[in-house]
Amino acid sequence: MNILLLGSGGREHALAWKIAASPLVTKLWCAPGNAGIARDAECVALDISDHGAVIDFCRINKVDFVVVGPDAPIAAGIVDDLNAAGFKAFGPTRAAGQLESSKSFTKALCRANAIPTAGYQHFTDADKAKAYIRAQGAPIVVKADGLAAGKGVVVAMTEADALAAVDMMFGGGFGEAGAEVVVEEFMAGEEASFFALCDGEHALELATAQDHKRAFDGDQGPNTGGMGAYSPAPVLTDAIRAQVMEEMIHPTLRALAAMGSPYKGVLYAGIMITKDGPKLVEYNARFGDPECQVLMLRMMSDIVPALIACADGQLKNFSLRWYDEVALTVIMATKGYPGDYGKGFVIDGLDDAAGVDGVEIFHAGTKADGGKILSNGGRVLNICATGKTVTEAQGRAYAAVDRIKWPEGFCRRDIGWQAVAREKAGK
Ligand code: AMP
Ligand code: GLY
Repeated sequence: MNILLLGSGGREHALAWKIAASPLVTKLWCAPGNAGIARDAECVALDISDHGAVIDFCRINKVDFVVVGPDAPIAAGIVDDLNAAGFKAFGPTRAAGQLESSKSFTKALCRANAIPTAGYQHFTDADKAKAYIRAQGAPIVVKADGLAAGKGVVVAMTEADALAAVDMMFGGGFGEAGAEVVVEEFMAGEEASFFALCDGEHALELATAQDHKRAFDGDQGPNTGGMGAYSPAPVLTDAIRAQVMEEMIHPTLRALAAMGSPYKGVLYAGIMITKDGPKLVEYNARFGDPECQVLMLRMMSDIVPALIACADGQLKNFSLRWYDEVALTVIMATKGYPGDYGKGFVIDGLDDAAGVDGVEIFHAGTKADGGKILSNGGRVLNICATGKTVTEAQGRAYAAVDRIKWPEGFCRRDIGWQAVAREKAGK
């Protein structure tokens, strides 16, 4: 079959790599793709925000199935438009995708269905938000309501920081996304990522992962889209995963089906393991980036039938097999990220790095220029490795990182620290 993948990040490179390995695939395109994806798919320079252009491409090239990677096209209704034009796609409709694109939609859904999450209030007015913050005290969390590339959240440890965050968001600090603000109770605990494929009615649990959102070692610095990840996340025990399915995923699918917007695609639940049990931090309507990279490395089964089963409502009797090995990924980003950064820096040593045992490199913001690979974004490379333990995978990933010559890049040196500490403690 002919498949078109939409997106250009590390998540999409991992998806392209996994989809390209399927014997069901005749031809794989990726729009717009990146320099690494070009190894696994034919990259096409389509503007994916132009849904008409995407549909025309599908018609001309007899595309059988479209896989949507990022959140923005989902929020823009690409799946609705593809379906209306007669094309099958992996991903939720715009209405179902509100689980990610509108924090207040999800908060209201949680409240109506007793899904455990932080208490919250929703504001369209800065003074009211500030009065609420003063009444609640710190620590407290201030969130822009719309999409902000994982950066629209301020976890304020002091009241002054929270008040400043309100001014910044209503002042347009996150553009349109901050026109409405959610103020949330602070949840203390360890965070992990839970994924389930959904077909509107049934859910199939995938492997778990743990992300590292802060820019710098020791979980310091600003929040980012994610600086590294590993899978599985041992903090999500069998018992907790069963609780997440029972208390969050199933009620969410039932609620959306009852609204007439059944959820199809991958549902990504950010979970905080608090002393009162797992609570939902947020939903995303797509695979995590970089979590997807480690999930794809661990998935043994062909992914293509699973993605199609989501679109077709056929997940009920589906199962997937996974490798027991762990996988870990270190993100190399351009210095300055998640703030301002330059582009067009030459990256050397990639082939040498890929030669380390167990290592696979996925590209995010890269561009080919003749024989050279240039940086072309904030998060640029995903240096992934598998291993028998997180400690082994971590050692391999950093051995590969050390072979890469890119002075303008940086990475965290402690990806996987929670799991490495658990392994050292023998737990
Ligand atoms: P979100 O975009 O909602 O996932 O928030 C980004 C990050 O901020 C999360 O991954 C958490 O690390 C942190 N965060 C969000 N909400 C809360 C909360 N209520 N309590 C503590 N940390 C939070
Ligand atoms: N890794 C976090 C995200 O994809 O939102």
